[in-house]
Amino acid sequence: MRSLLLALVAAAAAAVQASALPFIVLHGIGDQCANHGVAKFTELLAEWSAADGYCLEVGRGTWDSWVMPLQQQADIICKKVKEMKELSNGYNIVGLSQGNLIGRAVVEYCDDGPPSGIFCIIVDALIKLEIYSDYVQAHLAPSGYLKIPTDMADYLKSCRFLPKLNNEIPGERNATYKERFSSIENLVLIMFQDDAVLIPRETAWFGYYPDGAFEPVLAPQETKLYMEDWIGLKTLDEAGRVKFISVPGGHLGISKGDMKKYMVPYLTDKASNIQGAARRALDLRESEAPLLGSSSW
Ligand SMILES: *[C@@H]1O[C@H](CO)[C@@H](O)[C@H](O)[C@H]1NC(C)=O
Repeated sequence: MRSLLLALVAAAAAAVQASALPFIVLHGIGDQCANHGVAKFTELLAEWSAADGYCLEVGRGTWDSWVMPLQQQADIICKKVKEMKELSNGYNIVGLSQGNLIGRAVVEYCDDGPPSGIFCIIVDALIKLEIYSDYVQAHLAPSGYLKIPTDMADYLKSCRFLPKLNNEIPGERNATYKERFSSIENLVLIMFQDDAVLIPRETAWFGYYPDGAFEPVLAPQETKLYMEDWIGLKTLDEAGRVKFISVPGGHLGISKGDMKKYMVPYLTDKASNIQGAARRALDLRESEAPLLGSSSW
């Protein structure tokens, strides 16, 4: 009886394979596609959504995720995306931690790429302030996106990556970034309730501190990025295309159940959602242990 069930599952998967858009996974800092957690994560999302999934690597994996400036990492992903004929009809982006910033950069900056970010699942956004130091500022990728609210002048002047990505610098805003970012179909923002890596954890939802202070944490809709609509977040939200999701767990500690609930529906072709739901309903035996987590940010 069990093999009959499995055969049905395989047939359903084959039937929807042709129509779901492929997706790419952009891993976090200190991680690489070859690592078990992110490899398994990609494989399961692909299996459950019946979409082809590709973890795209930058350079030498773990090492370059730390030391290569993010703009350069985004340029490499942009080039790979354009070269992959599998993605030429459009694709979804699953960004993990630092990978979501690269994903946003690909959406905003990548010229002449295939239609990107049709769905964009962004898991979270920033990194421990503890690693903020002169050395880190000079040498490590996160220096491009650490935003210290009490030092906004230096941030806007010296920080290389985030002010541009956020279209934050007065006089240097580029309408193309906003146009591209606000054209994505769904922006799924997943916040982990016990996240100890992101400070504040609400940054996963674009919530942040006000300029000049470390409190209070502003709701996404109260930030200048949103209210002045620098990148089109307000436009997207008012169109009902931003999903603010909160799940239990620490940084990237997403359970298999929550992956199915909050990620898979956005990766599965809409026309095949019914088949997909039926197929997922058959798969009742998963464990709840998170795949990602302490080893990957
Ligand atoms: C805005 O960004 C787009 C995409 O990268 C670029 O092609 C364009 O030249 C930029 N415009 C300005 C005024 O910098």
